Amino acid sequence: MNTTLLAAPLFATLKNQPSDSLLELIQLFRADPRAEKIDLGVGVYKDEQGRTPVMAAVKQAESALLSAQESKSYLGTAGDMGFVDALIAVVFGEARRGDRSLSGLQTPGGTGALRLAAELLNRARPGVTVWVGSPTWINHFPIFQDAGLKISEYKYFDRDTQSLTFTALRKALETAQTGDVVLLHAGCHNPTGADLSADQWREIAALCAERSLLPLIDMAYQGLGHGLEDDADALRNLLSVVPDALIAYSCNKNFALYRDRVGALFYQCADETRRERLRGNLIHLARTLWSMPPDHGAAVVRLILNDAALTQVWTDELATMRGRVRNLRAALAMAHPGLSFLTRQNGLFSTLPLSPEQVLDLRTTHGIYMASSGRVNLAGLATAQVPALAKALKPFL
Ligand SMILES: Cc1ncc(COP(=O)(O)O)c(C=O)c1O
Repeated sequence: MNTTLLAAPLFATLKNQPSDSLLELIQLFRADPRAEKIDLGVGVYKDEQGRTPVMAAVKQAESALLSAQESKSYLGTAGDMGFVDALIAVVFGEARRGDRSLSGLQTPGGTGALRLAAELLNRARPGVTVWVGSPTWINHFPIFQDAGLKISEYKYFDRDTQSLTFTALRKALETAQTGDVVLLHAGCHNPTGADLSADQWREIAALCAERSLLPLIDMAYQGLGHGLEDDADALRNLLSVVPDALIAYSCNKNFALYRDRVGALFYQCADETRRERLRGNLIHLARTLWSMPPDHGAAVVRLILNDAALTQVWTDELATMRGRVRNLRAALAMAHPGLSFLTRQNGLFSTLPLSPEQVLDLRTTHGIYMASSGRVNLAGLATAQVPALAKALKPFL
């Protein structure tokens, strides 16, 4: 090693990292004394009262777990396989339960699943290219970069016209090399809410199959778009066309388990020998990353999914959450025609075509908080606040 580096005090050579602007926004919002302030910044579901409650199905499963759980001894690196199996039916359909070409392992949230996928890809093909549409979830780039992957970026969405730039996606996939990885959001795109249509998905699936590209699907919001089954259609169709795929799944939003860190990495691989090698490597990587995933949230999800009555409680609550966000989108579009695009989008997020100066002005003049990119979490809004938000946005949109 370079002797100057060795002479420097420990850690002095580390570079400063940018602070998390969303955390700063939370602090600014908390410190704002105005009663009418609106928080559209934080990326979690909130109810009409601005709370992120523990779901009733989760509470019931937690009390059952509390009385029935006899041991907290280690489960193993793959986590709770009862959880993984039950989730396969929800994500991929009951028919794929027991299908040996599809399996998975429990991970600490969707973030853990993405990081594990990235580490696996880099081990399989060091420095492999992953195609990422821009904008995307803020953590995608650092996750892939830190794992050693090369990122090729293409434009996914045009903020001014609020439409997908599908030709750029198609062109990216036509340019990609065999074996490249294609990251796609399964639905409820973060940060734009703009999802591919069924026809566009079919085209992408055909291109991936034809050009031997590996889809890496990030599914973090199943059930918050159109419904549990509808939100999985595109993924299921894709998997019927491509032989191999990785799916990073989060239960943290649709079960509101956020801090319990519940997720899974699924893989489809038709060839048995390659599939076993893939699993062995995932286990080996996970062992060095977190050894074993946290158990509690996954056990709760398993209990909910293996009990018909609890599943019903959960799906009803999820429908209420989804309905609330859809109603807010419709109410904003009614209150201001310039926001009609909101009804064509899905999930919690949208990225409004606002400049950082306009975002700042909304904050200082009206106490409306959002990311400087214009990303808003619609669930941060109470229905009674819709007219005030629409009015404040009028001069800009
Ligand atoms: C698109 C997307 N993927 C993955 C995640 C990771 O979620 P978690 O690690 O909390 O499961 C998020 C969280 O905001 C997300 O928006």
